[in-house]
Amino acid sequence: MKVLVVGGGGREHALAWKLSQSQRIQKVFVAPGNGGTARDPNLVDVPISDVKALRQWAQQEKIDLTVVGPEAPLAAGIVDEFRAHAMKIFGPTKAAAQLESSKAFSKAFMHRHGIPTALYETFTDAALAHAYIDKMGAPIVVKADGLAAGKGVVVAMTAIEAHEAIDFMLQGNQLGVVHNAGADGTAVPRVVIEEFLQGEEASFIVLCDGKNVVALATSQDHKRLLDHDEGPNTGGMGAYSPAPVVTAQVHARAMREVIMPTIKGMEKDGIPYTGFLYAGLMIDEQGQPKTLEFNCRMGDPETQPIMMRLKSDLVEVMLAATSEKLDTVELEWDRRVALGVVMAAAGYPMNPRKGDVITGLPKDEMDAMVFHAGTTAKEGQTHSSGGRVLCVTVLADSVKQAQHKAYEVAKGIHFDGQQYRKDIGFRAIKS
Ligand code: AMP
Ligand code: GLY
Repeated sequence: MKVLVVGGGGREHALAWKLSQSQRIQKVFVAPGNGGTARDPNLVDVPISDVKALRQWAQQEKIDLTVVGPEAPLAAGIVDEFRAHAMKIFGPTKAAAQLESSKAFSKAFMHRHGIPTALYETFTDAALAHAYIDKMGAPIVVKADGLAAGKGVVVAMTAIEAHEAIDFMLQGNQLGVVHNAGADGTAVPRVVIEEFLQGEEASFIVLCDGKNVVALATSQDHKRLLDHDEGPNTGGMGAYSPAPVVTAQVHARAMREVIMPTIKGMEKDGIPYTGFLYAGLMIDEQGQPKTLEFNCRMGDPETQPIMMRLKSDLVEVMLAATSEKLDTVELEWDRRVALGVVMAAAGYPMNPRKGDVITGLPKDEMDAMVFHAGTTAKEGQTHSSGGRVLCVTVLADSVKQAQHKAYEVAKGIHFDGQQYRKDIGFRAIKS
């Protein structure tokens, strides 16, 4: 079989790496790929990003199955485009992808279907937004409505920060958010202001075929740039799987209270959901999960540790998922812990520097992989070319051992200005 993975980040490198291990694979293509997929002899990069051009290429190449990594092509309707030409693709349609691409859509959806989430209001008018913050007080959370690569959220501990966030997001679109069009078709900057939730976060990711759901192994991301969860929010600085906060009981509640009502709600609303569905959960002390956000894709960097733990053949799973047969699938997981540490560029997340030469990259091992994200292969060298550059991912018997092993590997790698957290996994280590 010929399989295409759409995207060029660490998540796509990990998905392509895993798919290429299947016995059924003839070739795995990655569009556009990165410096890591370019180095891997089992993967072939395809320098096409435009959705229509990619579909045409995939048809000519007789691609049997396409798996989409990032949100942007999903929000642009890549699944609709491929399906319109009878091509097998795993992901949500453009309409279903609104669960992620529009916070206003997903909040209204959750409200309508009784899915637990923070209380919220939506604003386009800065004066009204400021007045609402004065009324509610801090802590409070301000979110840009649109795709902002994980950087459109400000968790304001003071009202001053919240007011600043409103000005930043509503005036001049300084985040470069891809805003959603309003009723008249023009894009308007819009913010969601919501109640601050307390608890511990977990990433709860499932596969859906429109009707059936299979949960992947649980994981936890580290969204803040700096150790001890300080500094600005990022796309994610490291992750591990499993997440101990998701006990069997929390797992059952997440399925019953969040995932199943979402799948049923989408079906009822006439937008059946297919693809990866990622619920970012906040779990309080009583074990009650509330939905912080939906993503219509796998997490990055959560995918990297999850793929290392997956023992089942991902191609078989994807085939079942694209033929409404997920009820026949039971996933098998490595019992060990997987942990990934993101190595980011100088200036990430606001203004990442590009073009630094990366040295000391180790050989791929089944229990120690360096998945690439913002890298480019050039004249036999690997250069940094994005904010999150690498994700050093390992398997080990405990979180502590995995942490130790990942940092040993990271120490051997170098690029100027590199920054990474030194405490990935800390919540799962009992002192
Ligand atoms: P989001 O992109 O909506 O997941 O938000 C990014 C991060 O901001 C989350 O992973 C949380 O750490 C934090 N966050 C978002 N919403 C809330 C909330 N209502 N209460 C507390 N923290 C939040
Ligand atoms: N790691 C969080 C995300 O992929 O959105």
